[in-house]
Amino acid sequence: MIPFPKDRSNPFWRVSYQCYAVYGQKLVGEDGRRFGGQDGKTAGVKILCVSDRVETMLHGPSLNAYAGDVQAVISCGDLPFSYLEYLVTFLGVPVYYVLGNHDPDIESPEYPGGCTPLDGRIVEMEDGKGEAGGVVLAGLSGSRLYSGGPNQYTERHMRRRARSLSTRIRCRGLFGKPKPRIFVTHSPPFKLGDAEDHAHIGFESFVGMIDRHRPELWLHGHVHLYGAEQQRVTSRGDTKVLNVFGHRIIEI
Ligand SMILES: [Fe+2]
Repeated sequence: MIPFPKDRSNPFWRVSYQCYAVYGQKLVGEDGRRFGGQDGKTAGVKILCVSDRVETMLHGPSLNAYAGDVQAVISCGDLPFSYLEYLVTFLGVPVYYVLGNHDPDIESPEYPGGCTPLDGRIVEMEDGKGEAGGVVLAGLSGSRLYSGGPNQYTERHMRRRARSLSTRIRCRGLFGKPKPRIFVTHSPPFKLGDAEDHAHIGFESFVGMIDRHRPELWLHGHVHLYGAEQQRVTSRGDTKVLNVFGHRIIEI
């Protein structure tokens, strides 16, 4: 595996990323399928979503047989950076991520090479040429504060972060830019796939964001699913809330 240059100011970082993105896999495949399709509209974007647990079928030679036709990867956090770098390298598609409470701090110099951070940002997915492809993502890292570790926030702190993101989404709207169709967080929204112990209670401010922006999909991790009775999908209004734990392949 050829590592990406870690320093994004390094001119070879972008070149390396584009080489993987364009030539690494089927993003511009034999059928010419890419974000936006042939008619310029966004249609049937297939996305591999990962979170919290390294999946053996994705971290080995079966990766491309299983997920070689996805057009992007979204990580909801608490995953080794080497795993995300493996996915971006061997799938050759953009990888977008937020950080979880078991990841290094947001301010840390460590980050997954070749991947795009979503925390506090609004990002248009790229196609194989590094151009915006139409599906807009917004993300917020972190879990509820329970031990003082990295990427943990009180409800009040997360509310400020959510408001700041909402303001930027509204400003984009003033310029006619599309609103996010997918929100990506590590922690779930309150009472929408969260758990009862303090560390896994969701954020109420996320519920407010669902009501305000009405995204099609809200992706999160953090809450591990071990029993058949645990719910993976919940909803609020028209927004589906999906716990990605492990992995899911979605089409939007
Ligand atoms: Fe977590």
